[in-house]
This record gives sequence, structure tokens and C-alpha cells, in this order.
Amino acid sequence: MSDTAKLQVAGKEVDYPVLTGSVGPDVVDIRKLYAQTGTFTYDPGFTSTASCESGLTYIDGDEGVLLHRGYPIGQLAEQSSFMEVAYLLLNGELPGKDELDKFNNTITRHTMLHEQLATFYRGFRRDAHPMAVMCGVVGALSAFYHDSTDITDPKQRMIASHRLIAKMPTIAAMAYKYSVGQPFLYPDNSLSYTGNFLRMTFGVPAEEYVVNPVVEKALDRIFILHADHEQNASTSTVRLAGSSGANPFACIAAGIACLWGPAHGGANEAALNMLHEIGRPERIPEFIARAKDKNDPFRLMGFGHRVYKNYDPRATVMQKTVREVFKELNVSDPVFEVALQLEEMALKDDYFVEKKLFPNVDFYSGVILSAIGFPTTMFTALFALARTVGWVAQWNEMISDPEQKIGRPRQLYTGPVQRDYVPVDKR
Ligand code: ACO
Repeated sequence: MSDTAKLQVAGKEVDYPVLTGSVGPDVVDIRKLYAQTGTFTYDPGFTSTASCESGLTYIDGDEGVLLHRGYPIGQLAEQSSFMEVAYLLLNGELPGKDELDKFNNTITRHTMLHEQLATFYRGFRRDAHPMAVMCGVVGALSAFYHDSTDITDPKQRMIASHRLIAKMPTIAAMAYKYSVGQPFLYPDNSLSYTGNFLRMTFGVPAEEYVVNPVVEKALDRIFILHADHEQNASTSTVRLAGSSGANPFACIAAGIACLWGPAHGGANEAALNMLHEIGRPERIPEFIARAKDKNDPFRLMGFGHRVYKNYDPRATVMQKTVREVFKELNVSDPVFEVALQLEEMALKDDYFVEKKLFPNVDFYSGVILSAIGFPTTMFTALFALARTVGWVAQWNEMISDPEQKIGRPRQLYTGPVQRDYVPVDKR
């Protein structure tokens, strides 16, 4: 049963409904606040504001729980596949075998890019960051696929969503190939989504590429771990861009732009760079001291999260996957030892304990990706590839929500009040 919240403001007392979801905190529905009281709420960073209703992903940050359509991330990562999770997020239920086969087939058949798009790459410098290339090329998709941009038509929305999920590996692999000066490889429809991506990235036309099933599984799992994460910054960006009715491909390009930042998707790259900079376990205390020093802007990258105030459940799976990949590839990397010891020391340190700072998904992902052979600049591009599933699922949910409106936050204005313009010769 819903409750009401009382608010006294501007000399008025008003009641607001309290809405209850299936699980998680209730929300106070303040939509009528401005009309009734002439006041706004103030919440920079949206720390206490629910921007939408959603049935996709649930996070309990205190307990370290992440559910997609009700299924725990650990179960999905262990037992499912990225394609199955993509279907689940888009359609609400796990697919039956025939549905999954059909979905795989649909995605596989959309993996090629319009040939003209290959020429876009040549406009970039070879040393361009892959995320800069991804922003540009994904945005450019909006100039190519005009038959899937009537966003009021659910079928066209689904075609655009399938295209985006299918083309992202091709786009990301081409960004990598361009950076190393190797020829682009066309997709191979006989391979899995993830196997195909590995081949397009690491294969060359001169010889056959054999997909290593352990690496394929590990990367597929990394994609699952990054598929969606409710209303994070990039997803909110996609929703906000989409709320104006913008072209779906352009909306995803906006999400990529937001994800690139080091406080968000760019943290995996920053985390590995930091582990390399630390270099040896003996240097860990020095970096922990820097992270705690208020006068030093340094932060432990891959540590802390806006929502998780407990161990990020994705980091647990990630740490296990590092061991599997290392064993299969018969490699070891001193940065993994640094990461393990850094985690152990930080979790015993009062500063990190009091502030509830735990490793997040990005802390270990860089170590695995680097063992597989990806350069650090590709890490965030891989995140974007996987998160595209969440972005399109959330975008679809938003467009089909009858309560959807253009997103338009308010502000607390603190600039000058009205004043008269003075001509330049009189100033
Ligand atoms: N190292 C040291 N101190 C930290 C760290 C960190 N990694 N993260 C937070 N803190 C401290 C802050 O200095 C702040 O201290 P104060 O209260 O004394 O001022 C306190 O913890 C709270 O931090 P905020 O920045 O206010 O928390 P917020 O929720 O805004 O930030 C964020 C979350 C951006 C993830 C932050 O923890 C961070 O910068 N972490 C490093 C970057 C990172 O790993 N990002 C990946 C996020 S996961 C993802 O996008 C997939």
C-alpha cells in the first residue's frame, strides 16, 4: 500500500504519494511540487533522485547485489552467454532454445558495416583514441540506416537495437585495426558473437585465426558483467538524448561519449595504468597514503562506486576470471599481484573501510584484457561494446513508457539578476 510524504515549504503543506517498486527504496513522487509550491528540489549528481521507472536492472549497493530482470549477475556470468543476457535485457525473459537461435542468427546477420563507413576511419589519425573513433563512427551510423529510425514503431526500434548490438564488435575491432595499421577483417558468421570479435581484432587475412575457447568464454563473461547497470551516467545520457526523440544511433554515440570519462568507463584503463605505475608491492603504502591525502587529487582507480557500498559483485567474478585466463594462457603478470595486495591492504585500512570503498568491476578487468592482448586504450571501447545492450534496452523501455517526457532538469540560479546592457564604449 502506498504511503504519503508531507512537505512544508513556501508556507504550504502538501502531500506527495510514496511509490513502491518490486524491491528497493520507495520513492516520493514530487512531480507536482513546482505546480503546488513554486519550488524545485536540488540534487546535483542525482544522488537521491529516481529519473524513471525501470524493470531491467536492480542494484542493492549495500548488499552488493546486481540483478538483471531478477537474475543475479553471478548466475548469469557463470551459466549464461552474452547473447542470452542481451535477449533477456531487451525482451524481459530468458529465451527458449529456438528464440535464442533466432536471436543469434539475427545479430550475426547484422554484423557487417555499410562499406562506406570504412572510409570514415581513414579520416582519423592513426593514434586517435578508440573511444574518439567509436563516438564518430557510431554517430555516423545515423546517416546510414534510415529504415530503422522511426522511433514510434517498435519494430524499427528493435531493428536499430539489433543493428547496434551486432555492429559494435565490428566497429570496435576496426578501430583497433586502424590504430595498428592492419587491414580490416570482415565478420565471420560461423563464429559466436565474442569469437567473431576476437577474430576481427586479432586475426589477419594472411592466416586462419583459431578462437581459444577459454579466452572466448572469459571475454563473453566480461561482456555479461558490463551489459547493464541501471541508471548510471552513460545510460542516463542515452535516455536524456533519446527523450527528445533523437536518432537512436546518435543517442548511443552520446552514451559512448559519457562512458569515456575516467570516473566512469575510462576507469578500467586508468586502473591498469595505476597498477603499472605502482609496479611493485613495496610501493603500495605510498599510493594508499596518496589516495587518503585530501591535498592530493590521486584516487585509487577501480575503487569506490556511487551505488556499491560493498564489494561490487562483478569484481568477484572478474578476479576469478583473471586466474582462469592466466592459467589457460600460461602467463603471469606482476600487476595482478600488485592488484591483489593493494585490495587486501586497502580493505584493512580505516579510510577505505569507513568510506565503504571496495574494488569495482574495473579493478581487475584491465588485468584480464591486457593478458588477452588488448591495449589499454581499447578497454573502454570493450565496455562500450557490451554496454550497448543495456543502452538500447533502456532506450527502448523509455520510448515505450507512456509517462516518458523530454528530460529537462531544473536549476538553482545563482548568477546576476536582471541588469541593463551597456554598449562596449561605455563599459
Ligand atoms: N580513492 C580514494 N578516495 C576515494 C575514492 C578512491 N577511489 N573514491 C571515493 N573516495 C573518497 C572521496 O575522496 C570522498 O571522500 P570525502 O567524503 O572525504 O570527500 C568519499 O570517498 C566519497 O567519494 P565521492 O567522490 O563523493 O563519491 P561518488 O559516489 O561521487 O564517486 C566514484 C564514485 C566516482 C566511482 C569514485 O569512487 C571514484 O572516483 N572512484 C575511482 C574511479 C573509478 O574506479 N570509477 C569506476 C566506477 S565503476 C564504473 O563506472 C563501471
